[in-house]
Amino acid sequence: MVSWVSLALAGLAASGVRATPVKVTRQASPTVYLAGDSTMAKTGNGLMGWGEYLAQYLTIPVVNKAISGRSARSYSNEGRFTEITGLVKSGDIVIIEFGHNDGGSPNSASDNGRSDCPGTGDEVCTSGKTGELVYTFNHYVEAAAREYVAKGAQVVLSSQTPNNLWEGGVFAPGAPRFVGYAASAAKNVGQGASFVDHFQATANLFLKLGSDATNALYPQDHTHTSPEGANLVAEAFVQAVSVDYNGTTPLKDFVKSPAPVVW
Ligand SMILES: *[C@@H]1O[C@H](CO)[C@@H](O)[C@H](O)[C@H]1NC(C)=O
Repeated sequence: MVSWVSLALAGLAASGVRATPVKVTRQASPTVYLAGDSTMAKTGNGLMGWGEYLAQYLTIPVVNKAISGRSARSYSNEGRFTEITGLVKSGDIVIIEFGHNDGGSPNSASDNGRSDCPGTGDEVCTSGKTGELVYTFNHYVEAAAREYVAKGAQVVLSSQTPNNLWEGGVFAPGAPRFVGYAASAAKNVGQGASFVDHFQATANLFLKLGSDATNALYPQDHTHTSPEGANLVAEAFVQAVSVDYNGTTPLKDFVKSPAPVVW
């Protein structure tokens, strides 16, 4: 008896298409895990990260593993990506969003333990402080994403949130390099990974809100939002997911209707 699998493989071979089958068993209720920094984390003292507001827009639970002050490098070195590997089950979804703490140079004697090695590929730096080998942003997030995909989970690479783009009253929408890096990480990982341009979605929101309303969302500095700001940044994310910005993510199936429209 010829199974459908061998028929399908024969069909692929005949058409010259190479495919790596990954079995994704959709659970009745998958879980969403969040890996990120303070802009996503549960913070406090008048500030909040957007990850705390995501669950109210989804039909499935969210576990927010974002931690203040982390970069792709330090999140990796502290075993936090690996902790999530131990938790994810087939069909779960992991959102990875870093960038705010990833800049700078690890080569200097004052290496802060967070700066990634510049570049998007196999570049390796040596920490000027500890001698640690330091890899690129793409290296850290792609390695984590591949582990999750290997467990049958799906990964959403999300670009970092913008800082206050209306600081000083002038709209300055330029994107940091980590926005493009997140997009390329999703491409490099391929099957099981997708990209959402949370930076651009939030920039669109801030443009629409204007200077005064946007500045009011940043009570302490130009990076961290108030709870109200975090909710809007979450809504910008969910809107992006619901309109495939930029690409279709597995989260789309779990967005509560009607999806927010804030940009
Ligand atoms: C995502 O799409 C928007 C709208 O087309 C575009 O402005 C933005 O640059 C895209 N993002 C990336 C990282 O290519």
